[in-house]
Amino acid sequence: MQLTYLGHSAVELELSKSSVLIDPFITNNPVAKANADDFTPSHIILTHAHGDHVGDTEDIAKRCGAVVISSFEIVNYFASKDIEGHGMNPGGSFQFSFGKVKFTPAWHSSSFPDGTYGGMPMGVIIEAEGKRIYHAGDTALFSDMQLIGKKALDIALLPIGDNFTMGPEDAVEAVKLLRPKTVIPIHYNTFGQIEQDAHAFKQAVEAETSSQCVVLSANDSYKME
Ligand code: NI
Ligand code: MN
Repeated sequence: MQLTYLGHSAVELELSKSSVLIDPFITNNPVAKANADDFTPSHIILTHAHGDHVGDTEDIAKRCGAVVISSFEIVNYFASKDIEGHGMNPGGSFQFSFGKVKFTPAWHSSSFPDGTYGGMPMGVIIEAEGKRIYHAGDTALFSDMQLIGKKALDIALLPIGDNFTMGPEDAVEAVKLLRPKTVIPIHYNTFGQIEQDAHAFKQAVEAETSSQCVVLSANDSYKME
């Protein structure tokens, strides 16, 4: 399995038979280098309804028929635009063709740019091809991350931008609770309010925990052995 970071919180997972996009904010993403037209995912997973996460979902799903996996409310919103979806809620899991998806709580908010209520903001755990990946979405630090880490995580994608989500200091505490093999920082340096030094974060993670930290730039890939 290969993970490609597209900038901000957008990630592509390339599996043996399909690809899955998480929070595909590409076209208006100041740090993205990819083109939304280049992706043909089977599924798009959305953590919440904010514009910097929903991004190109409508265009990509309409073009290639990707199924949106997200909150009940977000899936209903896209159903009104004739986009196929699968609605879930925190704590629920479901076995899809590519792997198992489980949504977790996230401390944040979730409304569409037009004000439509997006349900609960969430993080997501994906189990596929023998790997377990946690994308925290936008969230504050919370102690139940300890429960998420009870089953070994190969990768944790954690926001470090501060202001809208946890900052680097809290993200290091999150790593201590989650104990993933590898941490990848996300949701930073996209806009002025969330500028952070990812390399200083990497140093702190590797000094204070036994996890390794991998800093990716937009379009960098990380291969899971
Ligand atoms: Ni948000
Ligand atoms: Mn965000």
